[in-house]
Amino acid sequence: MNWGTIDKYAKSLIKEAGHKIRVSFFNTIDVDTKADANDLVTNIDKAIEQFFISRIQSDFPNHFVLGEEGFGDDIRSLDGVIWLLDPIDGTMNFVHQKRNFAISLGIYCDGVGMLGYIYDVMNDDFYHAAKGEGAYYNDEKLPMLEVTPLSEAIIGVNASWVAPNRRIENEPIADMVHKCRGTRSYGSAAMELAYVSSGRIDAYLSLRLSPWDIAGGMVIAEEVGAIGTNLKGEKPNLLNQDTFIVARPGLHDEILRNHIRLK
Ligand code: IPD
Ligand code: CA
Ligand code: CA
Repeated sequence: MNWGTIDKYAKSLIKEAGHKIRVSFFNTIDVDTKADANDLVTNIDKAIEQFFISRIQSDFPNHFVLGEEGFGDDIRSLDGVIWLLDPIDGTMNFVHQKRNFAISLGIYCDGVGMLGYIYDVMNDDFYHAAKGEGAYYNDEKLPMLEVTPLSEAIIGVNASWVAPNRRIENEPIADMVHKCRGTRSYGSAAMELAYVSSGRIDAYLSLRLSPWDIAGGMVIAEEVGAIGTNLKGEKPNLLNQDTFIVARPGLHDEILRNHIRLK
């Protein structure tokens, strides 16, 4: 497999898709809901996924695609080369803010993340990594992450878990929020993964993410020494929805040990 060729191809595909998304703002965007009223999808999410899939199928006919909008393959195992794609991560931001969303793509071979990309479309900020070759923010190589104590950390966390809820004990989360330096919530898991990898935040956690939300970001995160697992400390799930945390080394353990009590 020539990963250098696939890398160049994927980068240009993502840039082209980003251009299509920016141009889409000149037309009316059709917004629909999926699982619930807050789970949005637009004609652009679908068109961008179809754009990727038609190109990948014609240029790499032996590869598989797992895409959020369901136009790709029915993936039941991680065998072979799989492109895990979220055409727009942060659709609510795309619809309401016209910013703070990203294209997220991870290319895996037999379950191993080989290439990862997160493209912050409106800022034209590109994060990418190739396994064993380091991670980059635009053309700048990202340094390895150093240990940061919770007291100096900014944590990406959803405010709703600080209130009583049915999935996680809220008091240890509230304690974490009090003990850390600050919290943020950007509304795009992929961007939050990119922010952990580039040191803009120090940890990010979520109670429910899908493989396409984390696949690209995990390749980038691993290259800078960030630790990504589910909230039980197990390997991230690339076939099903699961909980998720990514953090600097040390901080990952501290959060899981002292602040996570799943119900
Ligand atoms: C969502 C975003 C959001 C996260 C949700 C995801 P989407 O992806 O990443 O930040 O909290 O769990 O589903 O639906 O905008 O692609
Ligand atoms: Ca997503
Ligand atoms: Ca999406």
